[in-house]
Amino acid sequence: MAGAQTRKLALLAGILVLVGLVGASLHRIPVHRSPKFTRSHKTIVAERDFIQRKYSRQYTANGYPVEQLSNFDNFQYYGNISIGTPSQYFLVQFDTGSANLWVPGSSCTSTACQDHQVFYESQSSTYVANGTSFSITYGTGSVSGYLSVDYVSFAGLTVRNQTFGEVTTEQGTNFVDAYFDGILGMGFPILAVDGVTPTFQNMVSQGLVQSPVFSFFLRDNGSVVNYGGELILGGSDPSLYRGDLTYADLVQAAYWKFQTDSIAIGSTLISTYDAAIADTGTSLIIAPVAEYTAIAALFGADSEGTFECTSLDAYPDFVVTISGVDFRIAAKYYIIQENYLCSLAIQSISSQDFWIMGDVFLGRFYTEFDVGNQRLGFAPVSAAVSPRQLALGQILGLVLACGVWKLWQ
Ligand SMILES: *[C@@H]1O[C@H](CO)[C@@H](O)[C@H](O)[C@H]1NC(C)=O
Ligand SMILES: *[C@@H]1O[C@H](CO)[C@@H](O)[C@H](O)[C@H]1NC(C)=O
Ligand SMILES: *[C@@H]1O[C@H](CO)[C@@H](O)[C@H](O)[C@H]1NC(C)=O
Ligand SMILES: *[C@@H]1O[C@H](CO)[C@@H](O)[C@H](O)[C@H]1NC(C)=O
Repeated sequence: MAGAQTRKLALLAGILVLVGLVGASLHRIPVHRSPKFTRSHKTIVAERDFIQRKYSRQYTANGYPVEQLSNFDNFQYYGNISIGTPSQYFLVQFDTGSANLWVPGSSCTSTACQDHQVFYESQSSTYVANGTSFSITYGTGSVSGYLSVDYVSFAGLTVRNQTFGEVTTEQGTNFVDAYFDGILGMGFPILAVDGVTPTFQNMVSQGLVQSPVFSFFLRDNGSVVNYGGELILGGSDPSLYRGDLTYADLVQAAYWKFQTDSIAIGSTLISTYDAAIADTGTSLIIAPVAEYTAIAALFGADSEGTFECTSLDAYPDFVVTISGVDFRIAAKYYIIQENYLCSLAIQSISSQDFWIMGDVFLGRFYTEFDVGNQRLGFAPVSAAVSPRQLALGQILGLVLACGVWKLWQ
């Protein structure tokens, strides 16, 4: 009798450990979207211009022009991290299209810094000075400052000795109205300014994640304020996508660059074997200029992607074929309709020779960024996942464990 009881207890303990382990191996951080964002023709043009600036940045310390940019209704995905001991909190954009972490420093007097959280070195017992200057020059503005070292925490993990940029000057950038305070780059080390080791690479070398993989589940519709999706560190959560991940090896480990088999609008082939990057810090889909011209011609759209339309039902899917699998995006996700005017959320920027798959794409497909194997995995996002359902998964695990316990008795 006592033996049977012990076995039951051991079984229950085993099930509980299993439920716990499934939850424990992955580290999650919710990502949010701007509460104000609704995509329109106007935002598409602003978004495109922002991406143009992002991809025309140069990593030099001097000679940049200064220009005041118009307001930018921010829409990117961002999350809450802490720096220092005790924690100082910052909202950062998790950006797979860059590789540095930077936040405003307390000595920054630029308008963009005044409107955001700033880092106070003197209030952190784990802060270590570095002092090397850094500067990221965009087409029309710049962010500059110096490097510092401190603890950085998110998703319940603490990276020790992370080097990051403390911004002392922000000129002519988009960050004045941004909901986030800084950027946490998740590209490869070769992209990093000043040769700084990116945060995720430190997480891996400090043994904080089970495997060198992170993944993004971004909700396709920006209207959800408090749960725009999740960044998952250490692996992927199959409950957030349908079927298996389709993998594509990287053709270059700087940006997350892979090769597509083909890209089509319905049955009209637009390109074959074009390179593309997965960029969580870009909102739209950006096509190389010739490919954009072909797409615009198909819709009779102008250079801003605008055309007259009545119903979106008439338009075919945007189809990206990766490793033999079709990834289809329905017209309502890549065309924004405002009365009789439609705008493509597929745009082009000058001197761009690869596709940039931003949130319009990543919002439809769960994406695994596999640092260790240098590959990307894609799968359609699960329909209608809510934070409640996520918590429900864990509760169900417990209920299951309790049920088995009951049955056993
Ligand atoms: C970030 O998280 C901390 C700790 O949970 C919280 O106190 C703070 O308000 C959060 N910041 C924002 C802007 O959500
Ligand atoms: C962090 O830096 C300190 C000295 O600045 C060093 O003693 C410690 O070992 C470092 N920790 C890690 C995890 O690199
Ligand atoms: C500052 O950080 C950079 C990048 O990690 C490193 O190369 C450099 O040696 C550091 N300098 C000092 C003075 O610690
Ligand atoms: C996004 O959300 C808005 C507001 O809830 C809704 O009107 C719109 O139809 C949604 N768009 C898609 C593509 O689901």
